Amino acid sequence: MTSAARKLLVTSALPYANGSIHLGHLVEYIQTDIWVRFQKMQGHTVHYVCADDTHGTPIMLRAEKEGITPEALIAKVHAEHSQDFAEFLVDFDNYYSTNSEENRELASNIYKALKANGKIASKTIEQYFDPVKNMFLPDRFIKGECPKCHAKDQYGDNCEVCGATYSPTDLINPFSAVSGATPVRKETEHYFFKLSECADFLRDWTRAGHLQAEAANKMTEWVGEVGENKLSDWDISRDAPYFGFEIPDAPGKYFYVWLDAPIGYMASFKNLCAKNGLDFDEYWKKDSTTELYHFIGKDILYFHALFWPATLEYSGHRTPTSVFAHGFLTVNGEKMSKSRGTFITARSYLDHIKNPEYLRYYYAAKLNGSMEDIDLNLEDFVARVNSDLVGKYINIASRTAGFINKRFDGVLAPSANNQAVTELLSASSSIAEAYAARDFGKALREIMRLSDIANGFVADKAPWVMAKQEGQDEALQQVCSDALEMFRLLTLYLKPVLPKLAQQIEQFLNVAPLSWSTDALSLSAGHRIHAYEHLITRIDPKQIEAMTEANKENLTPTPAPVKTVAPTITASNDVGEGAYISIDDFTKIDLRIAKIVNAEHVEGAEKLLKLTLDIGEEKTRQVFAGIKSAYDPETLKGRLTVMVANLAPRKMKFGMSEGMVLAASDESGGPFILSPDVGAQSGMRVK
Ligand code: 2FM
Ligand code: ZN
Repeated sequence: MTSAARKLLVTSALPYANGSIHLGHLVEYIQTDIWVRFQKMQGHTVHYVCADDTHGTPIMLRAEKEGITPEALIAKVHAEHSQDFAEFLVDFDNYYSTNSEENRELASNIYKALKANGKIASKTIEQYFDPVKNMFLPDRFIKGECPKCHAKDQYGDNCEVCGATYSPTDLINPFSAVSGATPVRKETEHYFFKLSECADFLRDWTRAGHLQAEAANKMTEWVGEVGENKLSDWDISRDAPYFGFEIPDAPGKYFYVWLDAPIGYMASFKNLCAKNGLDFDEYWKKDSTTELYHFIGKDILYFHALFWPATLEYSGHRTPTSVFAHGFLTVNGEKMSKSRGTFITARSYLDHIKNPEYLRYYYAAKLNGSMEDIDLNLEDFVARVNSDLVGKYINIASRTAGFINKRFDGVLAPSANNQAVTELLSASSSIAEAYAARDFGKALREIMRLSDIANGFVADKAPWVMAKQEGQDEALQQVCSDALEMFRLLTLYLKPVLPKLAQQIEQFLNVAPLSWSTDALSLSAGHRIHAYEHLITRIDPKQIEAMTEANKENLTPTPAPVKTVAPTITASNDVGEGAYISIDDFTKIDLRIAKIVNAEHVEGAEKLLKLTLDIGEEKTRQVFAGIKSAYDPETLKGRLTVMVANLAPRKMKFGMSEGMVLAASDESGGPFILSPDVGAQSGMRVK
């Protein structure tokens, strides 16, 4: 069944190093792992590498929010991700980080090669800049009013209400999601990969069978026909501050995270080569005869089917053999939802359901190698796992092994010419074909059909009746031996999906690790199996309930933290680990009782009120506060509240803001400004 040995390098997309692995991510890692295990069982040489995707603004800001360095954040997340993957039996040959020396060197060399090839250009562009944070803002960090439907609080690249896409400069009343400040437009020099010059290459490449048909259609549409010139050059640089690699000849300029992320595949492999003595160039040189496969979600096709092959091609490397894109995960037919408790992390699944192989089995049953979304229907999940794995597959051994153990001292009968066994054996190549084509659903349907045959055989022969009859010993031993041979074959076929269970069964059957090349070897006469022990338990629907409840509970709003209400502030309630501050840090904040001497609307401001505050100083302070939605200015006049008095003054569109007032809010309401108890006087320090 094994074709000539091949050398394969396989990757899954690199998860960002600022969040937990969830069941959506696992669709990809589980499917890649199944495919890799299958290919290894075929006798091929396969290296499966991955890494954390560690660079970029969100990771830099997340670390800042947690009060730790980006390096500390990515180290923490790397440990968490590695543990989650290991427990889901995702068996990477190397799980590395894009923040590595190998990646820095490879990214720099690739950039230099592209430059030497005339594929890098620089040009001055205008971007939004946060004058408070002193940084250029990525589109996702600029918010404002949608220019089309006028929905408030929309991201800089698209509107979640009407679906319009636009550039951040089109937003009405834009503000920085990082500091709340009004961004200013500023010029900066950026570096571009001249993708527009790669159209001919990409037109051919995307049509040359490296992509699934639906992906190829999409890509060829994006590349356009000859003369159409639909591709824009790709902006591959970002300005400091940025967590990433500095561009070799451009101080203060960094590679955009998406430039060095896929190079992270190479870097992880390079790191593996150093550990295992493999030849890196054999896999990446232009005329390599090895195979390179990338498993990805359909949302990142553009990067993997256009940018990445072009980057490789014009830097003198081989291009991918295939890019396999898959769809998204829905749970109970809907997008994963925190409020419904269906946004389930890998850890939460493990805590409640315990057995990762149930999910591996269910996902495999749903996957067919296409880009269609797959649904995890939690009721169906319980029913299918219980019926297929416990009711059909394991049942074959649990109904027959005991007789061999107890009546025949664990010894099997010589194999008979049994039609059912022959049928199971002859399905080997069609199951292998389905696995190879990533149509795991088809493979499992076939395996379950074969399980039905095996169960039918056992039910027909009824060994439990034979066991009570005189003179039936030989027949009983034969029937149970044949059933166990079928169980062995089914275990072989299921092994890519259920590797841990297969290993337990190999021990029970007392056989060497099962692989496709040994599938024809039957359990021989006189072979002695070990005692049968309970292998798998049914899922109790209560476990599912507990899991979804726990995920809902995680979201129960914690008491609303007091937030500083700056104009258009957008801080979230998340308080990550490591977010504690020292008392010294706290005392740096000069909190004062403030009397609201005046409050008024601000012309042209959607959210702001202008407050005049007396804090016992010679002069009053002017503060713009984002509380217009909750307060009539007239009702505020004369009230006492609390303000941050030593916040650096900010120049806002409507004037200087000389501090912040405090207010509480969460999803259920607010903002509610604070009031001190009777007796407090303006200017008193709050500590
Ligand atoms: O979309 C994502 O989650 C990215 N972190 C995937 C990167 S894959 C590769 F290109 F590095
Ligand atoms: Zn809109």
